Amino acid sequence: NNILLVNKSFYLNKEYINNNLVKVENIPHIKRENEEMLINKETLINYQNLYLYINSLGYNIYIFSAYRSYEKQKKIYENAVNKEYVAEEGYSEHQTGYAIDISLLDIGLTNHLENTDFYNILINNLHQYGFILRYPKDKTHITGYPFEPWHIRYVGKDIAERMYNENICLEEYFYLYLPLNF
Ligand code: DAL
Ligand code: ZN
Repeated sequence: NNILLVNKSFYLNKEYINNNLVKVENIPHIKRENEEMLINKETLINYQNLYLYINSLGYNIYIFSAYRSYEKQKKIYENAVNKEYVAEEGYSEHQTGYAIDISLLDIGLTNHLENTDFYNILINNLHQYGFILRYPKDKTHITGYPFEPWHIRYVGKDIAERMYNENICLEEYFYLYLPLNF
């Protein structure tokens, strides 16, 4: 079971890179100049299915951010105004390739997302595609981050369904269900 826990206590080395990164293609995403958007392949395949389902209900989701390198994360943190929302380099799940920031174009990465019908559909269906909401509103004291309605993380269907049914966040899943091998 290769699930990764990256948070304020557990970090990735500068050299860590997901060994199956692919380009985000043929799916709505924010295009930035001189920058190819990358993501873990299995994450993209499962996201495509989530996207198609939500799209069939009339919502067009965009990927705002997926994989971010150590160096990229460092720049984002340095330039961030609201630093409580941003991980320092090495401490970001985006470096794993399994995290995605998604939203509707007119809402963007803001808390207004929470008050949309789209968000309700998203949080009640994402586990069926292997995703979790990584920074829920009722778990901020555990995750260490403010509520982020836009940040989802691929963990696979079995774990995602269990976490959804038990209303636990990824830290709780680790402490409850995985042996500690330090
Ligand atoms: N916004 C999340 C915590 C990150 O920067 O990885
Ligand atoms: Zn994010």
